[in-house]
Amino acid sequence: MENSFPEHFINEVKERNEIVDVIASYVQLKSAGPSYKARCPFHNEKTPSFNVSRDKQIYKCFGCGEGGDVLNFIMKIENLEFIDAVKFLAERVNMPIETEHINKKEYDDNKRKQKYYEINKLAAQFFYSNLKFKGNPALDYLKNRGFSVKTISHFGLGYATGSWNLLIDHLANKGYTETDLELCGLIIKNKNNGYYDRFRNRVMFPIFDVRGNVVAFGGRVLDDALPKYLNSPETELFNKRKLLYNLNVARKHVVNDQIIVVEGYTDVISLYQLDIKNAVATLGTSFTKEHGQLLKRYCKEVIICFDGDAAGTSATLRGIDLLKEVELNLRIVLLPDKKDPDDYIKTYGKKSFEDLIKNAMTLIDYKIHLVKEKYNLNIPEEKIKIGKEIVKIIKEIDSSIEKEVYINKICKEIGISVEAINHELNGNKVIFKPNYDKKNSYSNKRNNNKYIKAVPIPDQKGHIIAERQLIKYMLTNPNRKEIILKSINISDFLLGEHQIIVEKLHQGNDIDLIKSSLRECKDVIDSIMAIEINHIDMTKALEQYVLNSKIYKLLYELNILQEKQKKISNNDNLRKEEVDSELLDISIKMMDINRELQKLRP
Ligand code: GTP
Ligand code: MN
Repeated sequence: MENSFPEHFINEVKERNEIVDVIASYVQLKSAGPSYKARCPFHNEKTPSFNVSRDKQIYKCFGCGEGGDVLNFIMKIENLEFIDAVKFLAERVNMPIETEHINKKEYDDNKRKQKYYEINKLAAQFFYSNLKFKGNPALDYLKNRGFSVKTISHFGLGYATGSWNLLIDHLANKGYTETDLELCGLIIKNKNNGYYDRFRNRVMFPIFDVRGNVVAFGGRVLDDALPKYLNSPETELFNKRKLLYNLNVARKHVVNDQIIVVEGYTDVISLYQLDIKNAVATLGTSFTKEHGQLLKRYCKEVIICFDGDAAGTSATLRGIDLLKEVELNLRIVLLPDKKDPDDYIKTYGKKSFEDLIKNAMTLIDYKIHLVKEKYNLNIPEEKIKIGKEIVKIIKEIDSSIEKEVYINKICKEIGISVEAINHELNGNKVIFKPNYDKKNSYSNKRNNNKYIKAVPIPDQKGHIIAERQLIKYMLTNPNRKEIILKSINISDFLLGEHQIIVEKLHQGNDIDLIKSSLRECKDVIDSIMAIEINHIDMTKALEQYVLNSKIYKLLYELNILQEKQKKISNNDNLRKEEVDSELLDISIKMMDINRELQKLRP
């Protein structure tokens, strides 16, 4: 851009603004030999790679490459054009600005902006002074909301009366034209080319830019009329997407490197009144990328704390993915009971609010929370959907350590196996296929997929013995029969002939009847009767048999699933999505069985 100040002037501004002092007012500098070090204000970092040299009067970040002289620093951190950065630094050291050297357009633009700042400031003062009128409803309204006089004056709150022209008249008297007032968004042209005040019968909230200039207003009705808030239109000074209410204050009161983002002016004010000064509000828009970029200059972490209603959730969400690009640490607070921060802190107090902030969810936690809200964990199909969506979320995480931490946490929370999630994450056929040993279908020795564990086929012999001992006991001890039948299901018996016999027992048949009606089972019954049972503690032994039978049954089911898992992994006719989906399905079933097994085998 054209250099519009004379060289000597710029040099003098630079000389008089010692770079170390200037930068020290934005970041914490630590002396390191001949230079100073800090954590870079332009990108997120944990170890300082931002260097400032007093000798050379330059800064350089070896992390993000950002660097330059004091003017470059101010342009970047204050988001100013070159010319404004020169002015900013000239003002900082009280140097008179040589306006005649600025080029004409710059000069005019600047002049106009200054005028608009002035107009807005006068309007704010005017609204504020209206609070002094006896009987005005706004002061009562504000006091009823719990705002102290000190708070009201700190935020410059005010009152627009019911008049259609008080503000026009007031500012016209000060020499401003209607066109100027219109361009500031304060007045509106009517059909007859006359003008009227935009804000009437409203409590006024002046909106400040980051440097503390009034650039717009929000006006709230005093009752339940609509619209609840009327905001200034976009003007040369006011761009909602880039402005955050109270950032001019919050940036100087950053706590724990955090800024809290809320939805409403009144939320900010309530928090401020309780000494929580690092809160800003979006102005009826969702949180934008620009907002994120702006905040990143002043803090390392942003805590989004929107209203606990549906609208709040969606507004929160809309901003979220955009923010990834900004590389801002983001955490989210969900307020309970549809409360906004203002309601919340009034109901539960400051400490409780601070706890919420402390325990704010990470973005990943928040996304998982939303997925969990969407589906019912108790319905298997929905659980599968949860699993799949969560895998998508986890895929977004770059760090593998972080991934693992989340996977473990989530699996515990929702009862899906780590194996299932991991499998879905890496899941494709290729990882199974080359290692699958067809000849030895239960051997996983050469299968490098560690997530499929080899489970032995149920030990047929032990299993049969357990079932037969149970049956014998029921056949020979009718008193115990009922107790045993209560503790085990027919389907828990694995062998078909055992199931038939137990069913007969269930129907009240005795041994002779069973033998005569079940000719095909005669041999089985004979071998059952041949088993010797001579346990000392029979009750305990029986419990053990029942348990064993159940365990065998589960192991058997597990085995079938594993077989299925292998078949699917090796089925070239399936699409990857089908494979993934089936495998996840199986893994979840296996997980459930494993959980049952764990219950049975302490
Ligand atoms: P109170 O009811 O006074 O506590 O307001 P609030 O701060 O809780 O406001 P709310 O949660 O309803 O809205 C949050 C923000 O959205 C407000 O601060 C305004 O910036 C904006 N907003 C709300 N209602 C309107 C409206 O009707 N029009 C416009 N343009 N903005 C609105
Ligand atoms: Mn509110």
